[in-house]
Amino acid sequence: MPKINSNLLKLKKDYFFNEIEKKVLLKKQSKAKILNLGIGDITQPLAPIVVEAMKKAADEMKEEKTLKGYGPSSGYAFLKQKILDNDYKNFYFEIDEIFISSGMKYSLANISDLFSQNSKVGILDPAYPLYTDANIINGRKQNISYLPLLEENNFEPLLPDEKLDIIYLCSPNNPTGQVFSKKTLKNWVDYAKKNNSLIIFDGAYEAFISSKDSVKSIYEITGAKDVAIEMRSFSKKAGFTSLRCSYLVIPKNIKTLDNLSINSLWNRYIDTKFGGISYLIQKAAEATYSDPGKAQINSIISTYMQNTKTLLFGLKKLNYTVYGGIDSPYVWCKCPKNVKSMDFFDKLLEKNICAIPGIGFGSSGEGFVRFSGFASSEIIAEALLNLGTL
Ligand SMILES: Cc1ncc(COP(=O)(O)O)c(C=O)c1O
Repeated sequence: MPKINSNLLKLKKDYFFNEIEKKVLLKKQSKAKILNLGIGDITQPLAPIVVEAMKKAADEMKEEKTLKGYGPSSGYAFLKQKILDNDYKNFYFEIDEIFISSGMKYSLANISDLFSQNSKVGILDPAYPLYTDANIINGRKQNISYLPLLEENNFEPLLPDEKLDIIYLCSPNNPTGQVFSKKTLKNWVDYAKKNNSLIIFDGAYEAFISSKDSVKSIYEITGAKDVAIEMRSFSKKAGFTSLRCSYLVIPKNIKTLDNLSINSLWNRYIDTKFGGISYLIQKAAEATYSDPGKAQINSIISTYMQNTKTLLFGLKKLNYTVYGGIDSPYVWCKCPKNVKSMDFFDKLLEKNICAIPGIGFGSSGEGFVRFSGFASSEIIAEALLNLGTL
């Protein structure tokens, strides 16, 4: 048998969310009804138009004339065109700057394969744990610098003193629920231009932004087309967490230090390692851009956001210090009386409430828990009642 890739041994033993799940399962064994506000998964049924599009696409497979075989690795033009026309209308991208993917997890985890093991990486702290794990698997554990998101800086990442080659930014942010200001994003784009760095912009929650002035795309910032890749997902926007569909925007002019086009490298990479996603799913994603599709999806998003706001204002009323929850479905809540986040998680679980301890997203997440608005209004109301007795 071959030996293990030793980088895998450098990962934390249990993927963090599994640890939380184990505790919750144990609590469930006592027949408790768990009020799950930890969940980052969708809970509303799919939009009817999405289901119809999949059925119609499945029917096409019954006929020789409309049958589909292997599709393009980077996705069908019909979906890329909808993305360009709807999400990037004013940015003048070309169709081959868009890549359809099977969820952002795949692209976030694999894009780092394109770059030298010696690249210095900047990762937000707290952050979605995947950025760190993917870079550890790539042998960069020693090359990661964490960029703390602190309460005193309104959870905005400050520029580092050192030169970083790759920077992961996520806005609206998971887990803090905050949107980075235009000024912060401009600072990072300027930093990237000055230091010849690449920004990987995670826009998984872009669809939840409703504030007029909040930046939705990194390309709203002048110069970003020279330094930034953007990724977005249909997972939370349209309930595709099981269907799997996302996309990347990779401007053709962005080059590695060795003058190779990242767009071409990713094309080459996915042609080898990825066969594209199914026609059915891409038709489903296309349907989200029709007028009824937009209306159905907006209605689901607004239900989640109404629930998030109930949670946010309910927590405020109970005198908790809370952040986020306006342009994202997450509320970042300060643990009372300097309690550690894992201890506060345990206290909440005693009241049958599940939240995610901030420490699981990085050391700067200590002292906070993340509540999620991907829950029904009944669960949120019951959780707020229980919190009132804590
Ligand atoms: C910040 C962030 N990025 C990416 C993802 C992954 O999204 P996908 O379902 O498209 O793989 C998630 C999922 O929760 C997330 O929170």
